[in-house]
Amino acid sequence: METRRIGDVDVSAIGLGAMPMSIEGRPDEARSLATLHAALDAGVTLIDTADAYHLHADEVGHNETLIAKALASHDRGADVLVATKGGHLRPGNGSWTQDGSPAHLKAACEASLRRLGVEAIGLYQFHRPDPRIPYADSVGAVRELLDEGKIRAAGISNADPEQIRQADDILGGRLVSVQNQFSPAFRSSEPELRLCDELGIAFLPWSPLGGISRARELGSSYAPFAHVAEAHGVSPQRVCLAWMLAKSPVVVPIPGASRPETILDSLAATDLVLTADQLAELDATA
Ligand SMILES: NC(=O)c1ccc[n+]([C@@H]2O[C@H](COP(=O)([O-])OP(=O)(O)OC[C@H]3O[C@@H](n4cnc5c(N)ncnc54)[C@H](OP(=O)(O)O)[C@@H]3O)[C@@H](O)[C@H]2O)c1
Repeated sequence: METRRIGDVDVSAIGLGAMPMSIEGRPDEARSLATLHAALDAGVTLIDTADAYHLHADEVGHNETLIAKALASHDRGADVLVATKGGHLRPGNGSWTQDGSPAHLKAACEASLRRLGVEAIGLYQFHRPDPRIPYADSVGAVRELLDEGKIRAAGISNADPEQIRQADDILGGRLVSVQNQFSPAFRSSEPELRLCDELGIAFLPWSPLGGISRARELGSSYAPFAHVAEAHGVSPQRVCLAWMLAKSPVVVPIPGASRPETILDSLAATDLVLTADQLAELDATA
């Protein structure tokens, strides 16, 4: 498995986005554990999660608990970088609310530490800027968590170029990752991707296949992806991830999965080499 770097840690060039295993439409626990174990068997060493990946109000951290269980029952569990997040909440009515206050982030981090059963979180990401809280205050809380050793590395999510520079500054040059939406359907994070490339910060595209409800239709929605997929005899989803990986060595996509077949298909993108003409065709259309 090809590896890429997040801070000073080598991770599989494609990570597993674990959200579909805990929100609307989630599978039963047995299928989720089979999905997580299939990913670990195949060499995945990055799993993305969040305390807010749950469905009902009383099950905060459902996804983190699931991941902790999967890692504890696999012999490669200790090799995985678990990237979790704080700053979003799910009150249980389907909505996503926010709390980026330092007090919340610190309490949320403590709770994530307990659920993951670790002394320090491998990568802690501030989930989304909270318009009610100065960005510097939220990121300042993450800096304190880093200084206290509660987290080994700090990332941000849903940030614009100015926020990326500000966060890196507040963290004293220790920002290791930016997680933004990026897919054929959503290209407006190109400036953030380019900035991360320039600064040597990992860029983790979220919903890289267009999101849970649209991922399956990627080929029918974007003809060039279907066209290139046919030429290689692979899925359009695999082409999409190979296209992203080719954009910059800082890109580490985190496709979601709730079935072993889908994550295994996605991981094979690390072996798919697209020609310059194919990359140009995908760039021009996407
Ligand atoms: N930071 C943020 O604000 C934020 C927001 C959204 C998501 N995220 C993160 O990003 C991750 C990925 O995003 P996402 O899950 O929303 O969307 P996505 O990765 O674009 O799509 C996920 C869906 O794609 C399907 N899929 C995966 N690989 C496939 C393949 N090779 N062929 C066909 N179908 C395939 C999966 O189906 P099955 O379910 O059938 O396996 C899954 O439901 C999340 O899991 C989460 O960790 C972060």
